Amino acid sequence: MDTRVKAVVHSQGASGFDLRAWSSAHLETVEQALSNWVAADAPAGLGDAMRYAVLDGGKRLRPLLVLAACEAVGGHAGAALRAACAVELIHAYSLVHDDLPCMDNDVLRRGKPTVHVQFGEARALLAGDALQALAFELLTPDDGTVSPVVQAALCRLLARSAGHHGMAGGQAIDLASVGLALSEAQLREMHRLKTGALLQGSVLMGAACGVASAAATVALGEYGAAIGLAFQVVDDILDVTADSATLGKTAGKDAAQDKPTYVSLLGLEHSRTYAQALLEQALAALDASGLDAAGRERTQALRALADMVVNRNN
Ligand code: IPE
Ligand code: IPE
Ligand code: MG
Ligand code: MG
Ligand code: MG
Repeated sequence: MDTRVKAVVHSQGASGFDLRAWSSAHLETVEQALSNWVAADAPAGLGDAMRYAVLDGGKRLRPLLVLAACEAVGGHAGAALRAACAVELIHAYSLVHDDLPCMDNDVLRRGKPTVHVQFGEARALLAGDALQALAFELLTPDDGTVSPVVQAALCRLLARSAGHHGMAGGQAIDLASVGLALSEAQLREMHRLKTGALLQGSVLMGAACGVASAAATVALGEYGAAIGLAFQVVDDILDVTADSATLGKTAGKDAAQDKPTYVSLLGLEHSRTYAQALLEQALAALDASGLDAAGRERTQALRALADMVVNRNN
């Protein structure tokens, strides 16, 4: 059996788990919460730019990972919804800044003109700043619904994933690496930071909404690391193989901007094989997590999301 077929059987075949149905209920809740929490009343048009950056678009993979990990540990749904939205706000802010002329200089995102094209560079910068701050505000409600210990854990995980040890650090490496031939280890580190950290952070934040054994937390961290890296490997592949209409962003940018990617380092076929190997690693981590002691129900959403990360077309 080839690895791709095996992956599908792993995530869906035996359980018959319907990711589409599972996601659609959660996505509706997340969309509603984001729309409520990203207020339009910020001054001088800032709210419009924030809402434009966040609403009506995106796969919402990070929120789904938070919710799936929370389900895997039987965690607190209210805390997880806040964490899911917070991580999406950080992600949306990272996209706004990633698209700026001083970074990737992109004009298309989520099928629409980028935020700076629509609202100007200064407002795009501020929208990103404000979304980042709002993420931490969401994690710290003062209404007694989320315990202070969980609030602190969620803030720590998100800050760590977004900052210089995570997304921002990886973006710095990305910008410093234009035109360079990175080694595989250097490229892996860049991808782990710029993209993997926030995806792994999503999984760990979901787990932090409940009580997980030390072994389960380690396993979920390994799962998150594997799919986090796989996500950017596949992003590199799709930049070459998909068109802009399918992606909702400009295809072919990496080669045009001389960015080191998995495709430029390993070629398409080896990159695909590597992504499948990372999927296997992610699923093996769940197998070893101890979360499946009473059957696979608790991890089936995580399994199906891992498959989606690697076998997606946009
Ligand atoms: C794009 O992320 C940026 C990367 C980290 C590669 P997504 O592909 O998750 O973007 P949206 O949220 O679906 O627009
Ligand atoms: C961006 O990586 C990762 C972020 C932290 C936003 P890319 O620059 O490859 O993302 P896309 O392809 O523009 O979505
Ligand atoms: Mg970039
Ligand atoms: Mg980019
Ligand atoms: Mg890309």
